[in-house]
Amino acid sequence: MANDYVSIRVSTLRGDQKIDFDAYLKIDEKWILYLRQGDSFEGGRLDRLKTKKLKKMYILTSDEERYRSYMQKNIALAYDDKSGKDIGTRSEIIHGAQQNNAEEVFERPENPEAYRAAKDASAKYVDFLMKNNDAVKAIVSLPNLDQSIAHHGVTVSTLAVALAEKLKLFDDKQRQLLALGGLLHDFGHFDSPLKLARPLKEFSKEELEIYKKHPVEGAQKVKDKNHMDQAVTSIIHQHEEKCDGSGPLGYLQKQIDPMALVISSANTVDRMMTYEGIPRDQVIKKLMVEEMGKFPLEYIQTLGSILKSV
Ligand SMILES: [Fe+2]
Ligand SMILES: [Fe+2]
Repeated sequence: MANDYVSIRVSTLRGDQKIDFDAYLKIDEKWILYLRQGDSFEGGRLDRLKTKKLKKMYILTSDEERYRSYMQKNIALAYDDKSGKDIGTRSEIIHGAQQNNAEEVFERPENPEAYRAAKDASAKYVDFLMKNNDAVKAIVSLPNLDQSIAHHGVTVSTLAVALAEKLKLFDDKQRQLLALGGLLHDFGHFDSPLKLARPLKEFSKEELEIYKKHPVEGAQKVKDKNHMDQAVTSIIHQHEEKCDGSGPLGYLQKQIDPMALVISSANTVDRMMTYEGIPRDQVIKKLMVEEMGKFPLEYIQTLGSILKSV
């Protein structure tokens, strides 16, 4: 009888912990042992998989328990300020955990537990960013090798929290929701037929029409999900709005939800870095010149100073 396999997400496999299960790839309906128990996913091994846009790997069903405890141990160590681990490794693991939380909600938006896990983790995440000076830098530096929407969500969430901290915006509770909203803002892109990783200027008229609908479609899809917070659904709905009314809903600055406006600013910065290939040190200059009046100047300047330290 063939063994039973269960899928695990690649985003949960980061860091320097040795795995205590075998990890398989599924290629042409065949199971290929990729990493053995006792090895770790350090270095180039994961990058190669990510570059191939591989999101899932497989383990034997009998190893599920071991996988779960690996994952929990990994995350607990990464969040532990006294673990002695370097900030780069901690950030990579925590980034992966946040990406996994986003992917879980994207795949199962109707599931309150998936949302609850992402919400609880967002409070810890904000705390981690606040307590560790170099965490923002380490997180934003992680390359989005497969142009993943969930990875982009982690970057946007991180920039938004850093911006809120620098400008003393929102209280702790609101910052948790800001982080969560940033993580989930592009829910409307999940399963998008569009090739998102290119400049919007290259989109055809038809493609641009579809693109402009993603905030409304995302908001539609979560409308009946009562477990979701209003602040998060507003961010999903309004995160492409611009101060001058040029966003898809045409809201002006005073009509835009304040948290959505922070996410919109952070989102534009990461869209340019991740999907338009604009070098990090040129993004702010370009925004100041070409997108003048679309975002509060103070937000753009502050994002500039955050990126400068990266
Ligand atoms: Fe978006
Ligand atoms: Fe986005």
